[in-house]
Amino acid sequence: MIENLPKEAARQVAFRELQGEVPGMRDEASARRPTKTRPTKTLDGATVSAHSPGTPGGHERMALLALENLHLSFGGVAALAGVSLEINAGDFFAIIGPNGAGKTSIFNCISGIYAPARGRIVFDGRDITRLKPHQRAELRIARTFQNIALFRGMSVLDNVKIGRHVHLRSGVLACGLYYGRAAREEQAHRAIVEREIIDLLELQDIRHKIVGTLPYGQQKRVELARALALDPVLLLLDEPTAGMNAEETEDMVRFILYVARVKRLTVVMIEHDMGVVMDISDRVAVLDFGKKIAEGAPAQVQQDANVIKAYLGEDVEVA
Ligand SMILES: Nc1ncnc2c1ncn2[C@@H]1O[C@H](COP(=O)(O)OP(=O)(O)OP(=O)(O)O)[C@@H](O)[C@H]1O
Ligand SMILES: [Mg+2]
Repeated sequence: MIENLPKEAARQVAFRELQGEVPGMRDEASARRPTKTRPTKTLDGATVSAHSPGTPGGHERMALLALENLHLSFGGVAALAGVSLEINAGDFFAIIGPNGAGKTSIFNCISGIYAPARGRIVFDGRDITRLKPHQRAELRIARTFQNIALFRGMSVLDNVKIGRHVHLRSGVLACGLYYGRAAREEQAHRAIVEREIIDLLELQDIRHKIVGTLPYGQQKRVELARALALDPVLLLLDEPTAGMNAEETEDMVRFILYVARVKRLTVVMIEHDMGVVMDISDRVAVLDFGKKIAEGAPAQVQQDANVIKAYLGEDVEVA
């Protein structure tokens, strides 16, 4: 894994991956990934326009999420040093950058786990910077985690069901005591959402299996299902294909594209596999040492002098 390589060697590998010369370097399994363009077929066989999942036809694009000058520090370490980003409704937006660049910290600020020392987060026209995590979940911002965060001793279905309760303040008990027509309608809606997600992600056959017994790739898919149980508008994916082999990666990408389109989601994805990033993103932002050093279309970012420098180190002359 790149974390175990000396810094210079790690940068070299990361750079070659940026250029698509090596098929992923996050782990041994990913080293087997093919470099060929990944299929962007939907599960029903139709071809997806990978660059416009979920964009409502004919509607003018607007920034659904705006990060304004975010600063976040841990002791003396600046995890974020003035990051600004705008993500349009319907976008498939990727965030890339070397290890420790501040990518996960951005998600932690958006979902309310960390409070930025400075800056603003605006979601759907509303300042959410000081809202609690459950309040952001109520606004339908969902996420997955870099390390799988599931109840390993519970079934797939229960993980999907409980995903919503964990993220919203109203717990299982509160919901049980809440009654009336609105509550019944809400519960019926939830049941539909859960069934739909289980179907969309093809989890029917394993829905009663205990999560801890499943292969890694399936666990990651269950985590995606758990996030989708929130019926999100904005979905944050933190390295959804990390640690997966080639087949699992292809499956995961296919599922992500499919649900993004069917559910008309806006997606922000942190991803180390450049093949995946180049294939499915509309826009890419590159972070290094807590700063955004480039942003644009995938092909454009790949050729950006600052990006190449960040991946190779300061001493490199960039033409
Ligand atoms: N809870 C924390 N306590 C102390 N330092 C932290 C904490 N979270 C993040 N950091 C530091 O902030 C910086 C950015 O970390 P972050 O996890 O956002 O990076 P990343 O880009 O997601 O990296 P990776 O690719 O390894 O996941 C790093 O220097 C990290 O050590
Ligand atoms: Mg991270």
